[in-house]
Amino acid sequence: FPVKRVHSTSIMAAANEDNIGSLKEQIAKVFEVSLRVTVPQESDVAPLIAPCAKKEFGDYQCNNAMSLWAKIKGKGTDFKGPQPVGQAIMRNLPASDMIESCSIAGPGFVNVKLSREWIAKTIQKMLTDGIDTWAPKLPVKRAIVDFSSPNIAKEMHVGHLRSTIIGDTLARMLEYSKVDVLRRNHVGDWGTQFGMLIEFLFEKFPSGEVNDQAIGELELFYKASKQRFDSDAEFKERAQQAVVSLQGGDEKYRKAWAQICEISRKGYQKVYQRLGVHLEEKGESFYNPYIPGTLDLLREKGLIEESEGAQVINIQGKKIPLIVVKRDGGFNYASTDLAALWYRLNEEKAEWIIYVTDVGQREHFEMFFTAAKRAGWLPSDENAYPKTSHVGFGLVLGDDGKRFRTRSTEVVKLVDLLDEAKTRCKAALVERGKAAEWTPEELEHTAEAVGYGAVKYADLKNNRSTNYTFNFDQMLNDKEGKLILEKDEERKLGLHLLQFAEVVEDACTNLLPNMLCEYLYDLSEKFTSFYSECQVVGSAEETSRLLLCEATAVVMRKCFHLLGITPVYKI
Ligand code: ARG
Repeated sequence: FPVKRVHSTSIMAAANEDNIGSLKEQIAKVFEVSLRVTVPQESDVAPLIAPCAKKEFGDYQCNNAMSLWAKIKGKGTDFKGPQPVGQAIMRNLPASDMIESCSIAGPGFVNVKLSREWIAKTIQKMLTDGIDTWAPKLPVKRAIVDFSSPNIAKEMHVGHLRSTIIGDTLARMLEYSKVDVLRRNHVGDWGTQFGMLIEFLFEKFPSGEVNDQAIGELELFYKASKQRFDSDAEFKERAQQAVVSLQGGDEKYRKAWAQICEISRKGYQKVYQRLGVHLEEKGESFYNPYIPGTLDLLREKGLIEESEGAQVINIQGKKIPLIVVKRDGGFNYASTDLAALWYRLNEEKAEWIIYVTDVGQREHFEMFFTAAKRAGWLPSDENAYPKTSHVGFGLVLGDDGKRFRTRSTEVVKLVDLLDEAKTRCKAALVERGKAAEWTPEELEHTAEAVGYGAVKYADLKNNRSTNYTFNFDQMLNDKEGKLILEKDEERKLGLHLLQFAEVVEDACTNLLPNMLCEYLYDLSEKFTSFYSECQVVGSAEETSRLLLCEATAVVMRKCFHLLGITPVYKI
């Protein structure tokens, strides 16, 4: 049968229409028909479908009978209990080639066994129509994933790497589910630190001629200017004045600010490019013009109060209020996030807004989410849309159990980290003789794919809320586990593999190629009986058995090579 490969977005749009939904959903559809017939008076009861608790009873079960019975009993129904309700649900199921058989268990659970032919047919259809027809259906059209979001002029650190990796995966899964995803980089490109940076820039480059090289490492530049700021009162004064000029829109200051941002941006872009992550920047500065209006809306709702010269929103159950206008009249992280939320809900019409940061910021998100609920921007029901979610992740720790840092106690630079991952992978490939086998491009490409892939995988495999210990050796460990031959079939296959050398020797000595053919034939037979007796993937012995498979492949490939036959990997 023909296999359609889905590449272009136009084809994906077409696939959208025959998107069949999840298996559970398809089963629910069949049960929905039955429920409408069985209890017409309860027209808004939705099917409750779950995988069967006991696999020997079936694949999925419908759990509606008990709760339905509770609803209808005493209301003039003919049913005598939950079990008859379940039986009626089963009886009233429409004919469907999906279901092979049904049975009733306990107080009216309806077990469904799916038809073998239907399962086969459905898989085969996916091969023709593409995996996009298997995309789940989510109840949102548009979502925003706010992730990565480093701070301009400061180094992007491993925390931002986690945000980038986790956020990208969430975005990819939502995109696969046909949600329109806005991938937002909420960079820290506004705030008081820019006064200091700009003033320092003017001091270093009075002519206004700045280039990337001249600023060099932005982080060092940041540190130097901070030092100047902390130690020189006169400079500090000028820096504070510079913030006013910048925020007032002074051309010269704006230009300097834009220059600094651009240099940072180029740095981040390198990391994103390596990771294959795409983001669209809408930094804090973007929302600045929306802050006064947003605060007015909140003020109208009576949410904003005066406290010790600042303007705050009190949040029930929190000791400290959410400050939205600082004592000096300036806006802050919270006022920016409130304005951004308003913009995302009203201008961008997002139904689900997801923020990916370290768990340390949880309080901040809880507080402004609560404020938005009080303002009526978000429903108070946690599960209703539009919805905001904070995706918090744990710290990245070093071997010492402390925050991950390099020897110089600086946070590890991302670019260095990715370089290292790639370098180590490349070295391992070279050691395995791949430099001779592959083109330099292949070597490079594989080292990147495996190196960056290992960094991503090591992060994503952990539950995101736990801290995780950063360990290159573990991350890039392609060293195999131990090979143990416990079962008879494993031992037989193992022994046969060992006999490879003597067979080749005999075949040479006797000048009899058929000996090698025989060996190869036996090898495939022994492999087949191993494979049918011993589960590989998902078994407790997985690593060991994968090794045995790999060893078989290596020997088989060599046999093919010696026989002058080209092995094919697809047929
Ligand atoms: N720039 C912040 C940081 O580095 C993260 C921003 C997260 N997004 C947001 N809308 N607050 O910690």
